[in-house]
Amino acid sequence: MPEPTGGDASRSVPGDTHAERDRTGRAGQPGNNPAGERPVGAEPSGQFAVDDTIDLASVETLTKAQAQAELHRLAQAIDAADTAYHADDAPVITDAEYDALKQRNAAIEARFPELKRPDSPSDRIGAPPAEGFGKIRHARRMLSLANAFEPEELAEFDTRIRRYLGLPVDQPLRYTAEPKIDGLSLSLRYENGTLAHAATRGDGETGEDVTANARTIADIPQQLADAPALLEVRGEVYMRHADFQALNARAAETGARVFANPRNAAAGSLRQLDPEITRSRPLAFFAYGWGALSDPLAATQMQALERLRAFGFTVNPLTRCCEGPDAMLAHYRHIETLRPDLGYDIDGVVYKIDDLALQERLGFRSTTPRWALAHKFPAELAWTVLEGIDIQVGRTGALSPVARLRPINVGGVMVSNATLHNEDYIAGRDSRGEPIRDGRDIRIGDRVQVYRAGDVIPKIADVDISARPADAQPFVFPETCPECGSPALREPGDSVRRCTGGLICPAQQVERLKHFVSRGAFDIEGLGTKQIEAFFADDQLPIRQPAEIFTLAERDAANLTKLKNRMGWGETSAANLFRAIDTRRTIPLNRFLFALGIRHVGENAAQLLARHFGSYSALHACLTGSAEAALAELVDINGIGPVMAQSLVDAFANPEERAAIDALAAHLSIQDAERPQAQDSPVAGKTLVFTGTLTRMTRAEAKARAEALGARVAGSVSAKTDLLVAGEGAGSKAAKAEALGVTVIDEDAWLALIGA
Ligand code: IVH
Repeated sequence: MPEPTGGDASRSVPGDTHAERDRTGRAGQPGNNPAGERPVGAEPSGQFAVDDTIDLASVETLTKAQAQAELHRLAQAIDAADTAYHADDAPVITDAEYDALKQRNAAIEARFPELKRPDSPSDRIGAPPAEGFGKIRHARRMLSLANAFEPEELAEFDTRIRRYLGLPVDQPLRYTAEPKIDGLSLSLRYENGTLAHAATRGDGETGEDVTANARTIADIPQQLADAPALLEVRGEVYMRHADFQALNARAAETGARVFANPRNAAAGSLRQLDPEITRSRPLAFFAYGWGALSDPLAATQMQALERLRAFGFTVNPLTRCCEGPDAMLAHYRHIETLRPDLGYDIDGVVYKIDDLALQERLGFRSTTPRWALAHKFPAELAWTVLEGIDIQVGRTGALSPVARLRPINVGGVMVSNATLHNEDYIAGRDSRGEPIRDGRDIRIGDRVQVYRAGDVIPKIADVDISARPADAQPFVFPETCPECGSPALREPGDSVRRCTGGLICPAQQVERLKHFVSRGAFDIEGLGTKQIEAFFADDQLPIRQPAEIFTLAERDAANLTKLKNRMGWGETSAANLFRAIDTRRTIPLNRFLFALGIRHVGENAAQLLARHFGSYSALHACLTGSAEAALAELVDINGIGPVMAQSLVDAFANPEERAAIDALAAHLSIQDAERPQAQDSPVAGKTLVFTGTLTRMTRAEAKARAEALGARVAGSVSAKTDLLVAGEGAGSKAAKAEALGVTVIDEDAWLALIGA
């Protein structure tokens, strides 16, 4: 299936699936949805007449016009209840009343799917609990997995690993293969055999403290016999189909919340402020790995799982050892046939290198291990009608076409929007101008095939031209920005048309602000998408650029029109917002950089830049000095390419952007980047160059090792080089190093230096 690049589309399609939004309207992280229920304790106020809405039977007798009117009324009532609850800290209805409203809304939507509103309350689940959970920093980061969809990718995975390790093709290499559980990951920290903490994945570095809740799960032992002094067990919390159905049936009877799928039910049940609620939910846990350890568990993945089993954990019984891609694929097919009857949701098969010493050597890329791969099951498909195409303008000006669909159930989730990627995709071409879908274009009114793969935004796979209405016209992609009217241009080689309005385009401005407050960036509690939109449109207390977030309290104090009586804000919520903003006046360098929303600079790049420069002043000095020197320094950082380097340099060279960044920085204390492991390694902070052929490890491994020890690895020798590692047949680089007086060592000395 073709996968054109889609600019910002994947980020900004509103309300696609139940799983992707919470009640604040902020996008959630897959596997980490906020609790699905509101805490108990709201006092009834009688403000909403809900008596007449709880009767589900009466839904059967509604006419279409009545249903439409009622969906409108329900959306308003639920929205008002949400605002009262979240923004004002003053709930106006009880939990049961709230759930009844949502349930009636869902029942009417089920009977009249075509009436489902674009802003349907069903598309919002859960919300962060009022007080929130404590935070726990994982001793070892919780990463995700690289995905594969096609059988050929297994052989590529095997080849990549062999190449990295320098293993010949005929040397046997064993993998484990096990189901990929569709739940949410949990890290359990045992100290001297006693469960000390349990944390959700969170952003991978820091998760939520759900210790009390985890203790209520029968599959999670409280005590381990003969365990290492420190052991972090990692695995997946999930809910069995039968338990999920029973929970929902009970919920429907009592008017409590009904969950969209077992994964949401598991997430909502684990992330409860009251552990007694978690206890009443039938959660289960499979252990599949570990984090920090004081002593190794075993020599192989399989033996380590065996030890986890001996400690009392449940390890998935379908875990097998496989010798090579063919055996892995055979086990994948086997698990696929068992999938419908397993009794719990799985979304693929995970392969891992069995030998733990090899896992160690392979190590990690920025967010995924090199030694593992998730082979996903194919996407679920469904046909529906394309009712319209909207153009959204993203943070970087990308014009993204969004399909408005007649709502359709795709694998258990109602879908009403999907990304259409870009204008070529609609026209039936890929980025090189080659036909896709045999050149069939997509028109409004067409029957289209929608698919979802895992958690990603729904997409359009195909179009049925035989069902095309006679008057359907080819879609004309706008050449001006629908938001600000500026020309929207396509640069050569770019599949995306972009608004050239920059910061004068309100859509770009507001999207940048949303990005600024998002989870990996400033993550300001109480300042989500909805609130940013409201402040952006507010003339009395506006936020139009990031710096203005930090002058909000000051301006509020000086202003006669106080925030507290407007825009749904109460006294407490306004004070809480100002406090939340204050806590972010101190910010780590990487988060600051990511928050700027500079094109191509994602979370990983921001981290690489922060580690390289160490401080904001060093980075600022580089980016505001000579452009040529800045580009040279940037591309020398492993993981930063010329396109990203240019984008950074351009951002700081643009007077408006620079002014906005400087104005922002003036309100902040930007923390220097931590350089983990750097202090006690002999190569920490040094710039290394490898040349010639290494015999005991590949160049890629040597580079990764050096970087893990805090070194910078450059491609060419210069006066800044500290050390040249010269393998066999080293040539001109070694000569140049000698000429510059750079220390040159051979492979053995290199291995000795790093203690390998
Ligand atoms: S191993 C370094 N094994 O899938 C990451 N993950 O898409 C090691 N998952 O965050 C993860 N079943 O929550 C692993 N058998 C399995 C899994 C599994 C489900 C989840 C896990 C992870 C996500 C990545």
